[in-house]
Amino acid sequence: MGLLAGKTAVVTGAAGGIGRGVARELAREGAAVLVSDLETAAPGGEETVGLIEAEGGTAVFTPCDVTSARDCAALVDAALARFGRLDCAVNNAGIAVHKRLADVTEEEYDRVLDVNLKGVFLGMRAQIPAMVERGGGAIVNIASVAGMQAVPLISPYTASKHGIIGLTRNAAVEYGEAGVRVNAVCPNAIRTPLMDASPPEFVAELIRPQAIKRVGEPEEVGFAVAYLCSDRAAFVTGAALPVDGGYAA
Ligand SMILES: NC(=O)c1ccc[n+]([C@@H]2O[C@H](COP(=O)([O-])OP(=O)(O)OC[C@H]3O[C@@H](n4cnc5c(N)ncnc54)[C@H](O)[C@@H]3O)[C@@H](O)[C@H]2O)c1
Repeated sequence: MGLLAGKTAVVTGAAGGIGRGVARELAREGAAVLVSDLETAAPGGEETVGLIEAEGGTAVFTPCDVTSARDCAALVDAALARFGRLDCAVNNAGIAVHKRLADVTEEEYDRVLDVNLKGVFLGMRAQIPAMVERGGGAIVNIASVAGMQAVPLISPYTASKHGIIGLTRNAAVEYGEAGVRVNAVCPNAIRTPLMDASPPEFVAELIRPQAIKRVGEPEEVGFAVAYLCSDRAAFVTGAALPVDGGYAA
């Protein structure tokens, strides 16, 4: 029996990268997974579903733009319609712009904050009532080491990830008594399309301070998320767990 046997989960931004790694790991641990991403990323989302099904898991793709309140509500409705309940939600969708602060346009700033921070707010606002109604659940928000300290060249991203940790803590405090646990995971360099698209010198600089001198794998984030979603983490809420090869240390 897996850690998440009998549970259901939604994962945003799961057409590739960390979201796919997380969705696959939750499914390996027994969860039925609603894989979600932008409509334009549907082929990648369907590929994630195929990978899960090939391993004997249960998954279905539903599009959701996390900047849309309507989409976020519809995603929860889809999970309830398909699986009858929502136990776990992973708010993973995120983007970055690589520039020094004074070179960032207002539009770039707004876009990063909209997807990364407002997306997590809209996600949790839709997910929490569905969990409270059933007596509880677990939410994991994907933050970053940039949620706890400065990382040069990504200031709007850093601001958004600090904000995610703030939202996570507030939600944890407000809904603990209702049985909803809310935690954040803070990865450093993980092998994904986002990281592959980053300037090589940016990636080298990220890995240099790590104790473990390599890029992490999406599944390694998935292991932490699966734990936080599971009953093994029943006394863990409001945490920001580094999965960073020792970068924060
Ligand atoms: N890769 C890393 O090293 C790293 C490190 C720390 C944190 N993170 C965080 O992990 C998360 C996933 O990153 P990744 O590296 O897998 O990136 P990625 O670009 O590979 O995947 C991000 C996914 O989010 C989706 N997405 C973008 N905008 C969206 C929107 N508005 N609505 C729904 N989906 C949307 C994309 O289509 C994509 O599939 C992000 O929040 C990122 O900030 C990544």
